[in-house]
Amino acid sequence: MALSQDELKKLVGYKSVDDHVTSGMVVGLGTGSTAYYAVERVGQKLASGELKDVICIPTSERTREQAESLNIPLCTLNEKSELDVAIDGADEVDPALALVKGGGGALLREKMVEVMAKKFVVIVDESKLCKGLGPGFPLPVEITPFCHMHTLRTIGKLPALAGCEPILRMGSSSNNKNDGDNIAVTDNGNYIVDLHFKTPLADPVAAANQLKNTVGVVDHGLFVGMAYQVIVAGSDGIRVAGT
Ligand code: 5RP
Repeated sequence: MALSQDELKKLVGYKSVDDHVTSGMVVGLGTGSTAYYAVERVGQKLASGELKDVICIPTSERTREQAESLNIPLCTLNEKSELDVAIDGADEVDPALALVKGGGGALLREKMVEVMAKKFVVIVDESKLCKGLGPGFPLPVEITPFCHMHTLRTIGKLPALAGCEPILRMGSSSNNKNDGDNIAVTDNGNYIVDLHFKTPLADPVAAANQLKNTVGVVDHGLFVGMAYQVIVAGSDGIRVAGT
């Protein structure tokens, strides 16, 4: 019988910890329904004594709460800037292992933590694989609340993002449910603009640079050249892309 999407997420979440986390490590914990299982696995292995002296850095308040509930020792980047490994999900993965992240609204903390890891391990089910970033999932951009509509319009005119439709994320939280009348607010007190594309981004690096250079943009969900490895679960089992 075929595994459900949730079962696939659990497989990659557990495998990422089994393959990459050993005692004494500093570990970045991602955010979302796939990263949830990696956090669960770290908690299990610490509780059983299979892992010792691991300290983790969560990438969102949600993940911090889950980790605390499992008695996982935590710190922040203020205490430790060097991580052995970070494990997280993604919204889209292209053949060059460039990612779209931030569907859960945690992209800033995710990028701050994951860029400092010796190995950034990405865990996805095969529905996240794409030929080109953009049309399959809106690209999230975190912006300052100050004059947010101005920043939204400015982003919409960036040459490398031509043709995108920027939509301010609404909702009771910053995840991508868009389930409310209020503007969604991130853990950092910022807003999210989701960029909708009809065709794939021609040049994700140029798009990333232009977004990063836009005043009012805090950061964006393009994670290019960051993934060390992508673990993919699908109908034919688990495969690993990258080093
Ligand atoms: C949160 C993220 C998540 O990693 C991404 O949205 C994937 O989530 P899920 O595993 O629930 O599909 O970037 O900001």
